[in-house]
Amino acid sequence: MKASNTSDETSKYALPASSLGNKIAFKSSKSVTSQTPIPAPTEIQIRQMTRSELDLCLQWAANEGWNPGLHDAEIFWVTDPQGFFVAEQDGQIIGTGSMVYYSPNLFFLGLFIVPPNLRGNGIGREMFSHWQSHMQQRLELADDQSPKIGMDGVLAMQPFYKQGGFRLEHQQTRHSIMTGAWTKLNPNESVCTRDVAELPFEQVLEFDRLHFGVRRSTFLRQWLQPKDGWTRCVVGADGQITALGTIRRATKGWRIGPLFATGREAADLLLRDLCNRVNQLRSDVVYLDVPQANSDAVALVKKYQMSPEFTCGRMYCGPAPTLPWQQIFGVTSLELG
Ligand SMILES: CC(C)(COP(=O)(O)OP(=O)(O)OC[C@H]1O[C@@H](n2cnc3c(N)ncnc32)[C@H](O)[C@@H]1OP(=O)(O)O)[C@@H](O)C(=O)NCCC(=O)NCCS
Repeated sequence: MKASNTSDETSKYALPASSLGNKIAFKSSKSVTSQTPIPAPTEIQIRQMTRSELDLCLQWAANEGWNPGLHDAEIFWVTDPQGFFVAEQDGQIIGTGSMVYYSPNLFFLGLFIVPPNLRGNGIGREMFSHWQSHMQQRLELADDQSPKIGMDGVLAMQPFYKQGGFRLEHQQTRHSIMTGAWTKLNPNESVCTRDVAELPFEQVLEFDRLHFGVRRSTFLRQWLQPKDGWTRCVVGADGQITALGTIRRATKGWRIGPLFATGREAADLLLRDLCNRVNQLRSDVVYLDVPQANSDAVALVKKYQMSPEFTCGRMYCGPAPTLPWQQIFGVTSLELG
């Protein structure tokens, strides 16, 4: 996710004109003379998002170039309707963020956005400290002594998150490749791949848990059946899943995530299977978010000459979960982990 600081893209954020240039009370960029009437300070309110505001938030995410999936909002919302926030001032939305609950021991932060024309005025800091106290409240409910909060932080903001108690686990890089670049699977390969619907949900859920750290059944029930996309598995002769991956239509092209596999061969096969689904549709781009901690994944994107787009870091507050990163070839999403 690129941290953009430009103000020429203001119109894309569709904020009403009344909110533009409306700086928050504790940090004014205007010089004040003795004749200037001092307006009453207006406070930032942080409250839960409504469902329609989540659509706006994902539009902002698209404006940042994060390229959300076309139907992500619906799935994000059912995962944790209480997990999304807006900062509001004078009735206008001036910032967004999320802290999605997966289990008492795992939350994921994301969608941290302030419109370009309002950046650098302390709104982000205000939202972040709200998050910290909200996190604390929810963590106090946790039944574990080692709750974890994950996030994927842009490079520019990583020092700020570190100050806020997050530690960098590793960097992750979005890679892209054009459709049409993929050869068809041979019959021996095709016979190993299945649509996820052919497998018991419980088996898929368990394979996902091994790679995500907690069971996320509410999320997966939706995510594995994308309205515009596919979820595919590689299954061994013993009936065990050796790879799981989803490809979904995004604002631009297609996004793959997750891509979990027990080895490089299974990951390679599933990557080609997923890309073949969209290969013939039209000239388009496929994106994959690759953890740099997985040397096989790094080798795989090199093999197919996928182009690096941007890098952000997986960070955790609290002890990092023990995950088999060498089996994570693509994370599910940068917004919800
Ligand atoms: C990240 C973002 C939400 C911060 O909001 P903001 O209102 O501009 O932030 P603040 O003015 O409160 O600044 C808070 C801190 O963020 C850091 N920061 C903000 N913008 C930064 C930038 N472009 N580069 C480096 N650090 C930055 C600074 O540490 C700053 O603290 P300081 O003012 O004491 O130095 C906003 O810049 C944004 O929407 N960026 C684009 C989207 C994005 O990258 N989001 C983060 C995804 S992980």
